[in-house]
Amino acid sequence: MNILMAASECVPFVKVGGLADVVGALPKYLKKAGHDIRIILPKYQSIDGKKYNLQTLPYKLQTQVGKDTESFRLKYCLLQDNIRVYFIENMRFFNRSGVYGTDGIDYSDNKERFIFFQKAILESVKALMFRPDIIHCHDWQLGLIPAYLRTNLKNDGFFWNTSSVFTIHNIAYQGQFGSDTVKIAGFSWEDFTSDKLEYYNTVNFMKCGIKLSDAVSTVSPTYAKEIKEFNGMGMESVLNLRQDDIYGILNGIDYDYWNPATDKNIKANYSKDNIQGKAICKADLQKLCGFEIKKDVYLLGCVSRLDEQKGFDIIIDAFYKLNNADIQFVVLGSGNSEIKRKLQEAVKKMPKKVAAFFDYNESLAHKIYAGCDAYMMPSKFEPCGLSQMIALAYGTAPIVNRTGGLSDTITYYNHFTKHGNGFMFNITYGENFVQTILKSEKIFKDKKNWNVLIQNAFKSNFSWDKSSVEYEKMYNITVLNKQNENIFTHS
Ligand code: ADP
Ligand code: GLC
Repeated sequence: MNILMAASECVPFVKVGGLADVVGALPKYLKKAGHDIRIILPKYQSIDGKKYNLQTLPYKLQTQVGKDTESFRLKYCLLQDNIRVYFIENMRFFNRSGVYGTDGIDYSDNKERFIFFQKAILESVKALMFRPDIIHCHDWQLGLIPAYLRTNLKNDGFFWNTSSVFTIHNIAYQGQFGSDTVKIAGFSWEDFTSDKLEYYNTVNFMKCGIKLSDAVSTVSPTYAKEIKEFNGMGMESVLNLRQDDIYGILNGIDYDYWNPATDKNIKANYSKDNIQGKAICKADLQKLCGFEIKKDVYLLGCVSRLDEQKGFDIIIDAFYKLNNADIQFVVLGSGNSEIKRKLQEAVKKMPKKVAAFFDYNESLAHKIYAGCDAYMMPSKFEPCGLSQMIALAYGTAPIVNRTGGLSDTITYYNHFTKHGNGFMFNITYGENFVQTILKSEKIFKDKKNWNVLIQNAFKSNFSWDKSSVEYEKMYNITVLNKQNENIFTHS
């Protein structure tokens, strides 16, 4: 099968959150299964052409955004696994320091940027003569490709056999813009109807992706259920109309990359069979944070986008409430400036208990996953969550709110049955993060139980082997449906 993975982030080139991990990992497994899988991304300023040995392809291409004709070039490189990655290069839209914006504020022309990107993708595959069976579109930034295939391009022979699959990584970000988008994106007013582009007199890219793609997926079975019922941020009815075409496929993580036995970022390597190095990582992290270096203090960490979704109000509240407990906290994050200010305030008041770092720092992230005893993830909602899976791989116990993908990956440690890989509370039922931390601390102090819990954490496995097969099944069904549809439309 010819598959084009179209996204706004991808590891190792550009990462803001878990979307990048998914787009970087899934193609490797699809490639192993024998598909011709290619990735296409914007050529952001931060992507180092020399480092990745990017080659410029000979095409001089252009597309229309509103009244402007935008020229672009295609760059190209091969990933280790022989996966071709294309980059769309345009100075006006992508030659700037941020991905979606700077200092937590979105660029005011994101609508034009991602209209351009999507139109450029559709031009590029033609230039490359790469006829995809599936264009796999990720999140709102790619929500219009399914719409172009169903409207402007529906009679374009090049795309007759091309289906679109749309994956929702986070329905909270929808890309909703004024009705002038119809013209800027080059659609016809005839398609500005509720069964196609229109959404409360606006164009909502997420709605277009859900409504007009051939199949929709999201990143965990529980989130798939939740967004149809109550967590869909206004998209519940749009999703319910597509009930039968919505797949909940749990993300995996790349266990070659997230591996404490080989990780070069951490002070000492360790594994489930020889965990001694973890204590060295803990001491190293305590030193980095300016904390007292002590084995028996309970050390809790968090690596995250600074966003309300992640429950920082609950985390910061816990700092103050647990100020007298024998607990240290470390946070690494970037994003919302108000959350940053509150974290800075807490650090100022409790410098021996709370540490915070405010950049995007891959190496420090590894040190936190490895050095902490437990990992805090009291998200208000969480489509899947990769951080809790990474924590488990480093033998660090997640403490999570029961929501979305967190419910699908974490089970409460029961010290009678010895089952469970972490700790959970339920915000909706008024259960309390602070109390859950204190309960987990009791287990931490009981070394026998803690060691069992840590072994359970190491044994939890969320590899892409299983999930990539689920994606293949979805692609196969989609391609079959398309063939059937074409028998009626084009015969
Ligand atoms: P989300 O995609 O909602 O941000 P996930 O848990 O799915 O949440 O994925 C977050 C990913 O981003 C993880 O790999 C995490 O380690 C990484 N990450 C988040 N913030 C930072 C940061 N400031 N520095 C380094 N890595 C980060
Ligand atoms: C989103 C979600 C996160 C998910 C990630 C990758 O950013 O917030 O829960 O793990 O996408 O799918």
